Amino acid sequence: MTTATVATHSTAPRAGSFIERHYFLLRRLHSASGIFPIGLFLIPHLTTNSSIVWGQVFNAKKYASLGAGAAGVATFQHEVDFIHNLPALIFIEIFVLWLPIAFHAGLGVYFARTGMGNYSRYAYQDNMRYALQRITGYIGVAFIFLHIASLRWGWTFGGLLPTFDPAYASSSVAIHMQDGILGGTIAILYLICVLALVFHFANGLWTAGITWGLTVSAGAQRRWGQVCAAIGVALALAGVTAVGGFMTLDPEKAQAVEEKLQAERLDGEGTPVESSAGARSAASVPGT
Ligand code: HEM
Repeated sequence: MTTATVATHSTAPRAGSFIERHYFLLRRLHSASGIFPIGLFLIPHLTTNSSIVWGQVFNAKKYASLGAGAAGVATFQHEVDFIHNLPALIFIEIFVLWLPIAFHAGLGVYFARTGMGNYSRYAYQDNMRYALQRITGYIGVAFIFLHIASLRWGWTFGGLLPTFDPAYASSSVAIHMQDGILGGTIAILYLICVLALVFHFANGLWTAGITWGLTVSAGAQRRWGQVCAAIGVALALAGVTAVGGFMTLDPEKAQAVEEKLQAERLDGEGTPVESSAGARSAASVPGT
């Protein structure tokens, strides 16, 4: 048995509540739920959101007919239309995202508050990263709740967080970050929360190697640490690009592009597409 395994076993409570009795299973389910649905979702999610910037660079020719500076807005709209046209989207959201997030967050808060799964006493675990994992977990719970509630469920929290309109994808995200009652402060909070969640995921990937007994030696942990750090840096860049793109986007100009897109019903190839436009109210977009 490895040092890591022995150490992990020695922390496990032997009897008591349901969680204590099923500690090992729950610990692994907690680790798995942090990686598979939630963590892996972050990769396409931040890639899609950063299309507001990379779309401008790579798709400028494709969307030249919409006018200068329209390609990022058109690319992001195309991505959002694709997602909203997925069959059974609500079931994917409930069972692949919302429930696993609730499970991971609930158990994570329990572990953090009770000190269960506390690796900090072991030589190979860095105390600072252990503390940051907890702090970013708490930030993540608050951020993800507010984020989904405002952008997906349409709660505005009294004008704090303007909602998302898939028919006006870019302009409504720009308004969400710039035009609530706290103005552009929301974009700064976004930056902090997105970076916190990226750290939480990248560091969680590293500790998952230990939880699953895959990185036993110090060398394996160091090499896996380099891979996790590279994933974290790439995701952080995508996150900063996305927030930067939306915090500097002019919502009125973006809306003009979205209206052209709706009028022309263009998809990425310039062919007619079934748009999600009109699926929700455009009330959050100025002038609509
Ligand atoms: C970079 C900044 C981000 C932007 C601009 C952004 C944008 C959005 C938008 C527009 C939606 C609504 C999607 C729709 O209704 O089609 C959404 C939903 C969501 N976001 Fe983000 N997001 C960001 C960061 C994050 C982060 C860091 C997480 C962490 C896991 C996250 C998790 C989610 C989840 C779970 C949903 C619900 C998805 C669904 O139910 O369809 N987002 N986001």
